[in-house]
Amino acid sequence: MIIAANFKANLTRVATKEYIETLESFLVQNALMQDVLVFPPSSALLKHSGKVVVGSQNAYPAQNGAYTGEITKEQLDEFGITTVLLGHSERRELMMESDDMLKKKFDFFATLGYKILFCIGESLELRKTSLDSVIEHLSNQLSYIDVTYKNLIIAYEPIWAIGSGLVPTLDEIHSTHKELRKLSKAPLLYGGSVKVENIEDILNIQNVDGVLVGGASLKVEAFAKMCQIAQNINK
Ligand code: PGA
Repeated sequence: MIIAANFKANLTRVATKEYIETLESFLVQNALMQDVLVFPPSSALLKHSGKVVVGSQNAYPAQNGAYTGEITKEQLDEFGITTVLLGHSERRELMMESDDMLKKKFDFFATLGYKILFCIGESLELRKTSLDSVIEHLSNQLSYIDVTYKNLIIAYEPIWAIGSGLVPTLDEIHSTHKELRKLSKAPLLYGGSVKVENIEDILNIQNVDGVLVGGASLKVEAFAKMCQIAQNINK
């Protein structure tokens, strides 16, 4: 199971360091076996070795260069980071990141063998139409990347469920993941308002191989608890 935390633009460098140390000791003390990924903001990236894997929420497809405000491979190397989150809906919407740009990012980091957590998701408007149109949209988002890439993880995150407290029904997650499984063998995470109270039900759904947690991951106690709940799920 893969349990991932996306801090977005939250927590400082000091708070992130403390968080990761606390989480690491919790995972070790409780002998938890999940793959745990943490994505802090760029200003809080740090070198860490242990059970917790630190990744970057974004990365520009270049070694270094004139890309104001971006972070490139050279900066990731400083922290030994080889895991990147790409295609989050907030970057697609707020930073106008296009499928073509995501393809460039994917290709660059896939060539280097990075672990890539690639996010896809639909709007509420589309969800209200039909499952077929949702799948068509998700499939189109995936058409820009190599879905057979060995270090790929896909996160299905309905845009309307992110940070809203709204969660699709278990049936909706089930039917969507069932269709996504036909498109790729990569681990499939669900993301969007996952929290301590609903993680067990979500992880128990067939073809859900983990979760990507935003808001509810910001308190280390809650995120550690979610890792523990995942441990007790037999799948
Ligand atoms: P949320 O965010 O858990 O706060 O809904 C999830 C995400 O954006 O990855």
